[in-house]
Amino acid sequence: MGQQIFKGNIIFTPSPEELKICAKSHIVVEDGTVEGIYERLPEKYGHAPVKDYGERLILPGFVDLHVHAAQFYQCGLGLDRELIDWLSDCTFPAESRFSDPVYAREAYSLFADELIRQGTARACIFATIHKESTGLLFEILQEKGIGAFVGKVNMDRNCPGFLREETEVSIEETEELIIQYGGHPLVKPILTPRFAPSCSGKLLAAIGELAEKYNLPVQSHLAENRREVEWVRELFPSRPTYSDVYFDSGLFGQTPTLMAHGIYLTDRELGLIKDNGVVLVHCPESNINLASGIMPVRKWLGRGIRAGLGSDVGAGHTLAMSKAVVRAIQLSKLMKFFDPWAKPLTIAEAFYMATKGGGSFFGKVGSFEKGYSFDAIVVEDDPRIAGRLSLEEQFQRFLYTGDDRNIIARFVRGRQVG
Ligand code: GUN
Ligand code: FE
Repeated sequence: MGQQIFKGNIIFTPSPEELKICAKSHIVVEDGTVEGIYERLPEKYGHAPVKDYGERLILPGFVDLHVHAAQFYQCGLGLDRELIDWLSDCTFPAESRFSDPVYAREAYSLFADELIRQGTARACIFATIHKESTGLLFEILQEKGIGAFVGKVNMDRNCPGFLREETEVSIEETEELIIQYGGHPLVKPILTPRFAPSCSGKLLAAIGELAEKYNLPVQSHLAENRREVEWVRELFPSRPTYSDVYFDSGLFGQTPTLMAHGIYLTDRELGLIKDNGVVLVHCPESNINLASGIMPVRKWLGRGIRAGLGSDVGAGHTLAMSKAVVRAIQLSKLMKFFDPWAKPLTIAEAFYMATKGGGSFFGKVGSFEKGYSFDAIVVEDDPRIAGRLSLEEQFQRFLYTGDDRNIIARFVRGRQVG
C-alpha cells in the first residue's frame, strides 16, 4: 500500500479527557498505519502527493462493539415490547429467515453497506445460528474491506424449535467456521453464546473450551433487563450471579470478552468484570427502546471498568454510532435524576468510547497516534454554517446534527471503503 498523506482538520481523542484538534494538518500513513501528524510537512515528504480535504474534518472511523447483522431489517419494529417478548415475538422469527442463504446474502450485503455508509470502520457482530449464512457474512465483510469480529450465534434451549440447535451440532459448526475463516487479517471469528438463558450449561462449557483451544475472544449479553436477571437466577440456581455463569464456563475474561449492556450488576460482578478485564458495551438506544434501564456508565468507569459503545441494532434503531455517542451523553444526564452526584459524560468521553476505547478490542484502533491503524472518516458541513464555527463546534455539530450525508470518505487500515 505504501505511503499516503492526507490533509485536513484532524480531530481525535487520545484519552477520554482530551479532544485533540490539529487544524490544517497532514497525517502521514505508511502501509495503513499512522506515522505522524504534522502541521508543516517534514522535508523528507516534500514531493509526496497529498490528498487535501481542505476545510473538512478528519475523524477516526467509529467502532461498534455490539450489533446483530441479522436484525438490520428489524430496526424500529416491535419496540413496544421489553426484551423477552421482543425476542420471542419479533427477533427469533426474523432470525429464522437466515436459514435461507439467498435471503441472507442480500440482507447481509445491505447491512454491510449501511454500516460502512454510517462511518463504522470496525464492528463486533452477531450473526444467527446458521452456519452457511454466517459464512456468507464473513465473506461479504471481507469483500467490502471493513474490520470485524463475526460470531455464529449458539443457542440450544429456551427458544422456538425452528431456532434451537442440538448442542453437539452447535459446537461442531462453530468450530468448522473458526477453521474456515480464522485466517483473515481484518474479519475474524468470535465466540458468541447468545446469552445464558438460551444456552445449556453443557453448551456454555464447550464454547469456553473452544475459546481456550483457539485463543479466541467472546461476546454475549449480560444483565440487560430485570426479568432476564431473575430468569438466569432460576436457570442456574447454584451460581451466585449472572456473571459467575459465564466465568465458570471460561467465558468471562479468560480470553478477551465483550458483554453487552451490564446494567444490573452486583458488587461481586463488578469485581469479576474489572479483575478479568471484561469490556462492557453500553447500548443506549437499545436500552431506551426496550425500556431495559440506564447503564450507570460513569459509575462503572469510576470503578476502573473498560466500556465501549454499541448500536445493538435491531433493538437499537440505527447503525450511526454518532447517535450512540449523543444518546450515551443524554442518558448520563438523565442519570442525575436518580443519582444527584452522577456527572454526565463529556463529548470527549463518549467519543472516546466510540473510537479508541472500543477500538482497543481490535488492537491499535480508534486514534491517530503513531502506530494506530488509519481508520478514518472525512466529514463535510455546509460552509455557510461551518464557516462561522470553531473546529470543536463543527465536531459537536456533526455528532448531534450530522448524518451519513456529511461523510464524504471512509478508510479502514488506509484503504478507502464504500
Ligand atoms: N439478549 C439475548 N439476545 C438478544 C438480542 O438479540 N438483543 C438484545 N438486545 N438482547 C438480547
Ligand atoms: Fe444485543
